[in-house]
Amino acid sequence: MKTRITELLGIQYPVIQGAMAWIANGDLAAAVSEAGGLGIIAGGAAPAEVIRAEIHKARAATRKPIGMNIMLLSPNADDLAKLAVEEKIEVITTGAGNPGKYLGDWKAAGIKIIPVVASVALAKRMERAGADAVIAEGMEAGGHIGETTSMALLPQVVDAVEIPVIGAGGVGDGRGMAAMLALGAEGVQCGTIFLTAAECPISDKYRELVLKASDISTVVTGRANGHPVRALKSPLTRKCLVLEKQGDDRSLEEIETMTSGSLRRAVQEGDFAEGTFMSGQIAGLLNEPTTCTAILDKLVGGAQAILADRATRFGKEG
Ligand SMILES: Cc1cc2nc3c(=O)[nH]c(=O)nc-3n(C[C@H](O)[C@H](O)[C@H](O)COP(=O)(O)O)c2cc1C
Repeated sequence: MKTRITELLGIQYPVIQGAMAWIANGDLAAAVSEAGGLGIIAGGAAPAEVIRAEIHKARAATRKPIGMNIMLLSPNADDLAKLAVEEKIEVITTGAGNPGKYLGDWKAAGIKIIPVVASVALAKRMERAGADAVIAEGMEAGGHIGETTSMALLPQVVDAVEIPVIGAGGVGDGRGMAAMLALGAEGVQCGTIFLTAAECPISDKYRELVLKASDISTVVTGRANGHPVRALKSPLTRKCLVLEKQGDDRSLEEIETMTSGSLRRAVQEGDFAEGTFMSGQIAGLLNEPTTCTAILDKLVGGAQAILADRATRFGKEG
């Protein structure tokens, strides 16, 4: 499947494995890139040397392009920005802010820059700043989110910019990918579906919760402090929502303390009581453990079959 995204990134399929802090390591990224998509190593709040080791692991496992995600609010963002240049990373995705001050160095190093955006205004600003493409992420997605759904956001971003747009949020099979392409995306970024892959380094409990989830299993916390996060319902999300309703400074501080380190507790310890199990709404569709290769086949093969079928049934001759 060829699009401007496959051309830009030098990959076979226009499918990006989204960054997932504490999860998307060198092994997962290499497995996705080796399967024909683009694997991304999540910088999260990790120190640069930890991420350097993950990049080396990925390079040892694949010769295909690898991406890296930099959360611009990370205290280590400056170091990670330099690391990407030193390690000749092919693609950088950014979240939580404006990567403007790094763009010159990254461009000079030939790195492709793809910010994640949740609004038309930010997409336009990123295009003006020199981004090569944008990822438009709807609020169905797992992790930190905006307020607009993929269905509404994507065509508006596609109309607002000339650079290619990648759709994210809510893709769980070929139907989701075909829908994104129909809305004008030239590729998709997925996070939640990769939580079901054998190569994904999460606790058994985390994977089990994703596989058992239904359509209404996720909830958004953090709206009260301006940082909404989508995760599977759990004792911790329940406590957070109660405190958010109280809404006073003390309650908000308590949330901060309770949630600090909670994604790591979910990923590494499977701690149901104290962990945050970030996941998108599409978890309800994902019921079987799988592999990265099977995920890529399901997304791309499924989308191609659907688009061909629709052309026959709804096209001029159909
Ligand atoms: C567990 C988890 C952690 C995430 N962490 C990050 C992150 O560190 N940086 C980032 O830009 N996006 C992060 N995301 C968002 C994903 O990269 C991706 O855009 C999103 O999952 C796509 O929507 P989906 O979950 O419906 O597939 C995370 C998502 C999940 C599920």
